[in-house]
Amino acid sequence: MIQAAILGFGVVGSGVLEIIKEHADHFSGKAGGVLNVKYILDIRDFSAHPMAELFTNDFETILNDPEVSVIAEVIGGVEPAYTYTKKALLAGKNVVTSNKELVAKKGTELLKIAKENGVSYMFEASVGGGIPIIRPLNQCLAANTINEVMGILNGTTNYILTSMFKKGKSFETALKTAQELGYAERNPEADVEGIDACRKVAILASLITGKEVNPEKIYTEGITKITLEDIKAAEKMGYVIKLIGYIQMCQNRLFARVSPVLVPNNNPLAVVEDVFNGILVVGDSTGEVMFYGKGAGKRPTASAVVADMIDIAQNRPKGKFMWTENDDKDFMMDISESSSQFFVRVKDVSEEAAEKIFGKIIVSKSDEFEMAFITSEMNEKEFEDKKKLLGYGNILSCIRVHR
Ligand code: HSE
Repeated sequence: MIQAAILGFGVVGSGVLEIIKEHADHFSGKAGGVLNVKYILDIRDFSAHPMAELFTNDFETILNDPEVSVIAEVIGGVEPAYTYTKKALLAGKNVVTSNKELVAKKGTELLKIAKENGVSYMFEASVGGGIPIIRPLNQCLAANTINEVMGILNGTTNYILTSMFKKGKSFETALKTAQELGYAERNPEADVEGIDACRKVAILASLITGKEVNPEKIYTEGITKITLEDIKAAEKMGYVIKLIGYIQMCQNRLFARVSPVLVPNNNPLAVVEDVFNGILVVGDSTGEVMFYGKGAGKRPTASAVVADMIDIAQNRPKGKFMWTENDDKDFMMDISESSSQFFVRVKDVSEEAAEKIFGKIIVSKSDEFEMAFITSEMNEKEFEDKKKLLGYGNILSCIRVHR
């Protein structure tokens, strides 16, 4: 019998309990014994819950119980999750988590502590919800040099953009539905401003490079400025707008960015809709490999948390997911060093005037006052200079275009 504890009984925590209870028999073969939830930590009152006897609000009870060998931290946020995780690892307990904020911000230290104490810190659920991506990157694609990753990594924003595109819904209505469906973060700003996707990019980039990637160094732009007009103009030109997390290795340097991007209809990520996530990984031997599935929600995320618990029970892996500190100040490329094509929507600007500044452009007119166009590829700095010439007051929006 493997004794486990769940820290946090929110959307994901309740999903973890449900899956373990429903599939206990099925796991006993895979986990080399029954996986049993001995404690659930939550400060709220669950005295009316059918399994009320499992609940505690005292972390020390769990920490000091030598029978507990696996802890699922699904509280989210940095504190108290960080303190609990650190104490658990130092006490020789394995920890699995869906907490991307904690993994992105404190992963380097927690992985080191886990290694020093001969236990595991695992986080399959932190990126892509129910999609296996951490393990495949770390194991199945281990023989590859990963040159590029392009992903829809946030279910909430993909749900919002899909609702705007397909149903003409407003941003606010679509966000509210995503929150009701349990996809959104506690603070939806983390979703809509791209912060959640940025944390996931930091985790993937750290895994790929084996070096810590600070999420604060990743250029991040959310979807709050995207309008129905942008979506319609992009559609006319054969594109959909997606929030894309992008990672590229350029020689030995890393370029990482989160931003809305116009994705051409023939790109596999263009058909990733609603709460689904899609991650396109380019390995030097495999070429493109695509991962697709539900990126948020109770059961998909809980499924990945429980898979890590089973892996620990079955294999007792140590240091499986790993990266280390990174002192190289020149490791990450700045956004100003990158180039893109740009979609620009303007008012009161003629095609001729735009062409005079940008050279050859692809144009889509909506009426005699407004038009949208796509530029040729240029450096970010060059684009800023051209925007100035066009006149900031005439620009309605600017969005990068995927090659
Ligand atoms: N808020 C996140 C999302 C949850 O919408 O993708 C899963 O990480």
